[in-house]
Amino acid sequence: MRHLMTPLDLSVEELDKLMDTAEDIKEQPDKYAHACDGRVLATLFYEPSTRTRLSFEAAMLHLGGKTLGFADAGSSSAAKGESVADTIRVASCFADIAAMRHFKEGAPMVAAQFAQIPVINAGDGGHQHPTQTLTDLMTMRSVRGSLSDMKIGMCGDLKFGRTVHSLIRALLRYNNVSFVFISPDELRLPDYMIEELDSHEGVEYTEVTKLEDALPELDVLYMTRVQKERFFNEEDYVRLKDFYILDSRKMEHAREDMIVLHPLPRVNEIAVEIDNDPRAKYFDQVKNGMYIRMALILMLLEIQVK
Ligand code: NCD
Repeated sequence: MRHLMTPLDLSVEELDKLMDTAEDIKEQPDKYAHACDGRVLATLFYEPSTRTRLSFEAAMLHLGGKTLGFADAGSSSAAKGESVADTIRVASCFADIAAMRHFKEGAPMVAAQFAQIPVINAGDGGHQHPTQTLTDLMTMRSVRGSLSDMKIGMCGDLKFGRTVHSLIRALLRYNNVSFVFISPDELRLPDYMIEELDSHEGVEYTEVTKLEDALPELDVLYMTRVQKERFFNEEDYVRLKDFYILDSRKMEHAREDMIVLHPLPRVNEIAVEIDNDPRAKYFDQVKNGMYIRMALILMLLEIQVK
């Protein structure tokens, strides 16, 4: 039985296969409409979510399966003090596969150890978010044709932004990918991610503060929200929340073929005027998210569709 905790749990070949399947599902949804008949997905969400939970649920429903679960810790037995280990044992009795989001780093990993069903990490604290990465990779590959040979700028909260951490991990395995990390000093990448980058020989990266300086050289700009819920005090959050705002004026510095990604939810970091710019791909990401999660559910349940 396999779980998905970090993008590194999948080989590059498996990632390719998942993206191919997701593209096939997108083109021929009817072929997959009953692939999960009789199967159940549990969504165990201890932290707020719109896209991830709904897209997991939509994924299972479009495969013909059913879903159950909870959308916040307060409405689950966690409020009574139940451990993650016990909750997943219970979910294993009712479901065939589970997606778990938790505010504590490592919680889905603990769940995986006690589960009788595959567990997918749907975001653990400020740590990892592998299925958002699948969504990001699929979007980049579909627009650019490949995941090699690019310069990606990651901007915003690189300290607490788990989507950034997972995406870096995944991209480090492709050829000739270089990174520009754009953040205020307080929100730079955590040391463990810097160590991971340094352990990959030949990988180029720079850390800068000004978005305008980085923009002209980028193939991809990955914007992120300042992660309010992970700050220790409100004052720091208020000071940093609007540090970067991508607007039309700034986009003039970017290339015509640069793409803008964002895992969403957006707060102020991308002005709505950018939404109609053909370079804005963040709503495509949302759509791709459902298809790639469909492909992932099939893979982890070992279901082949001919
Ligand atoms: C992200 C997350 O939960 O980490 N959202 C998502 O799943 N699309 C990004 C965020 O909350 O800022």
